[in-house]
Amino acid sequence: MEPREIIRRALEEGRSKLLEHEAYELVGSYNIPVPKAYLAKTPEEAGKLAEKIGYPIVLKIVSPDISHKSDVGGVILDLNSKEEVVEAAKKIFDNVSKKAPNARIAGVLVQEMVPYGLEVIVGGLRDGIFGSVVMFGIGGIFVELLRDVSFRIAPISEEEALEMINEIKASKLLEGYRGQPPIDKKALAKIIVNVGELLEENPEIQSIDLNPIMAYSSGAKVADARIIIKTK
Ligand SMILES: Nc1ncnc2c1ncn2[C@@H]1O[C@H](COP(=O)(O)OP(=O)(O)O)[C@@H](O)[C@H]1O
Ligand SMILES: [Mg+2]
Repeated sequence: MEPREIIRRALEEGRSKLLEHEAYELVGSYNIPVPKAYLAKTPEEAGKLAEKIGYPIVLKIVSPDISHKSDVGGVILDLNSKEEVVEAAKKIFDNVSKKAPNARIAGVLVQEMVPYGLEVIVGGLRDGIFGSVVMFGIGGIFVELLRDVSFRIAPISEEEALEMINEIKASKLLEGYRGQPPIDKKALAKIIVNVGELLEENPEIQSIDLNPIMAYSSGAKVADARIIIKTK
C-alpha cells in the first residue's frame, strides 16, 4: 500500500496510532530497513505466516489501544517452529485478554527475528515552534535515566546526522567498546535522515518512535516502530 494511503485509511477510521504493521510499511517505504512482518488474525494463520518468513520468529500483539506491548505479555521472542508459533500466539491472546481486557485487538504480528545488536533509538516529533525534530540516543538507561540524546531540525543532511551520533555522551559505545566491533554509523545516519524526510513529507504524523533499532557492524534494522498521527 502507498504510504499516503496508510495514513489516509487510519485517519478515516479515526485512529491516532498506526497499527504496527502499517508503521513498518510506512517506515520501509522511506528506505529504512525493517524486518519481514505480516498480520495474523488467528494462531493458525500465525503458524502459516511463520512458515513463509522462516525462523526464528517474534510474535507481537497488534492493538490500537496498547502502546507498551511487553507490559501486557504481548511480545514473545525466539520461536523456532510452526507449533511453537501457534502456541505462543494463543498465549499472547490469552495474556492480553487478562491484562488489557478492554483493548481492541487487530491480531498478532508475525515478524522475522533479527540478530541482537546495540539497541539505539531514533525518534521524531512535530514541534509547534521548530517543526520536524529528530532525536537520536542509545537504548536502555542512556535514554531513560541519563537522557543522553541529541536533536536536529529536519531536513537533516547525512553529515549532520553523523554529528548527532557523535555528540551523545555515550558515543564511545558505538566505536568498538571492550572488543566489540565498531557500529555502522553511516547506516544509522541514513535512518536519521530518512526519518526527517518522512516527518517533513507527512504533516499528519505527530511523532515516530523507532525503539529499538538493532545496530550492527554492518547495517541496522528497526525492531519496533510506533507512529502517532493527528486526528482533527
Ligand atoms: N524482530 C525482532 N527481532 C529481535 N528482537 C526483537 C524484535 N522485536 C522486538 N525485539 C526485542 O523485544 C523487545 C520488545 O519488543 P518491542 O516491539 O519493542 O515491544 P514494546 O512495545 O514492549 O516496546 C525489543 O526492545 C527488542 O529487544
Ligand atoms: Mg519497543
